[in-house]
Amino acid sequence: MKTYQFPKGFLWGGATAANQIEGGFGEGNKGLNIADVLPGGKGRLDILQSPGFDFEVDRDKYNYPNHEAIDFYHRYKEDIALFAEMGFKVFRMSIAWTRIFPTGTEMEPNEEGLKFYDNVFDELHKHGIEPVVTISHYEMPLHLVKEYGGWRSREVITFFERYVNALFHRYKDKVKYWMTFNEINSGFIMPIQGLGFAIQEEEDKYQPTFQAFHHQFVASAIAVKACHDIIPEAKIGNMILYAPVYSYDSNPENVMYALQEERMFNYFCADVQVRGEYPAFIKRYWKEHGIELDIQAGDLELIKEGTVDYVGFSYYMSRTEKVDKTTEEAAEGNLIGGVRNPFLQASEWGWEIDPTGLRISLNNLYDRYQVPLFVVENGLGAYDKVEQDGSINDDYRIDFLREHIKAMGEALEDGVELMGYTSWGCIDLVSASSGQYSKRYGYIYVDKHDDGSGTLERKRKKSFYWYKDVIASNGEQL
Ligand code: BG6
Repeated sequence: MKTYQFPKGFLWGGATAANQIEGGFGEGNKGLNIADVLPGGKGRLDILQSPGFDFEVDRDKYNYPNHEAIDFYHRYKEDIALFAEMGFKVFRMSIAWTRIFPTGTEMEPNEEGLKFYDNVFDELHKHGIEPVVTISHYEMPLHLVKEYGGWRSREVITFFERYVNALFHRYKDKVKYWMTFNEINSGFIMPIQGLGFAIQEEEDKYQPTFQAFHHQFVASAIAVKACHDIIPEAKIGNMILYAPVYSYDSNPENVMYALQEERMFNYFCADVQVRGEYPAFIKRYWKEHGIELDIQAGDLELIKEGTVDYVGFSYYMSRTEKVDKTTEEAAEGNLIGGVRNPFLQASEWGWEIDPTGLRISLNNLYDRYQVPLFVVENGLGAYDKVEQDGSINDDYRIDFLREHIKAMGEALEDGVELMGYTSWGCIDLVSASSGQYSKRYGYIYVDKHDDGSGTLERKRKKSFYWYKDVIASNGEQL
């Protein structure tokens, strides 16, 4: 029997990222960023998971769907009207750093870029929708990648500080909810997108990864402090990829291993950003692996002072672990590793579907941090079919979302403080890991295909009407 109720003022909405929706390649003086050199199709995942990427464009071999994406840059008014029709309270989006600082190193921000986001925020407000803004979502300026080695370099902190200050000053009256780095812990598995560099063939990945994280933690703390100073009434959170780690069985060695993976992947970054300190388990890890970080005077104090107001996280799947993985089938599609969980079904991309895992995640995170939580990504990537009459009957997506919303309701009843829910890809967009259009998450269908064809026309799917009712009933009508 259902006993939960979503609180009044719950922030229902949808989530996107600039590089996956905007297009507008080179327009308004926009500079090149990482997403611009990532190809579409299966080749992308190989690049993201193998060392040695050179960040060059090779048009003979690949296509680059992020250059056009779904053309939100020109169609944002139409799209925002559709979000409003669904009753969105909030819209999660990111700002493309290279629209504001085309190379990342300019002294002054680019007015055309600033103006574009002014227009988007104004349009959202016209419809009563609050923006939730990710400052950096997998789109570091390419110049910083090539000339500075991304977040390997301490100098990038200064460029980032200039960028966030420009945003907070310009949008102080327009944006109340901010987040620093998207899925910051994804740097462990996708350093290209998360940390702005490729691991080289000859190097051990952990030394540069932890050093880059340290630079991001300092940058994140600077952003939090600046946000609190410039926009005292705003809330600024971090953003992690959370996938609870289950032990495959009751063998204590497997349970311990699952705990270690849980701490390293899920909690390490959030511990620093929420509690303001490096946890003991990571110091032991560094000692045992000979990792020595360049931590400069004042860094740790800054990290302590710049703790976030809330934890934003994405939830798509759980992960099942055991020490000896050779005896089980690998959970390959999951990207975060582990073995197949015999109790779960997977999506067409092999991501294991686990709504109870969302309730577990919310409880785990709240037990640990005791700060408000915000589910800022969740959804089902699936192939959709347009019927002869133009309808798109995505019942599989409705089923997925319904079960996850119920899990949030249960977590609320468990006592978790939850601010809101922005499901991922509320409008079809370019997939981050595969660069496909065909991996669709939206309530709104976009007529655009992996071979580049399509009119970009928008259509309401069945889930569009369903989500509209969910929001209108504040989660009662599922
Ligand atoms: C998250 C990212 O990892 O998952 C998004 O923050 C991404 O950018 C989303 O799009 C879904 O992943 P994918 O690979 O299916 O696009």
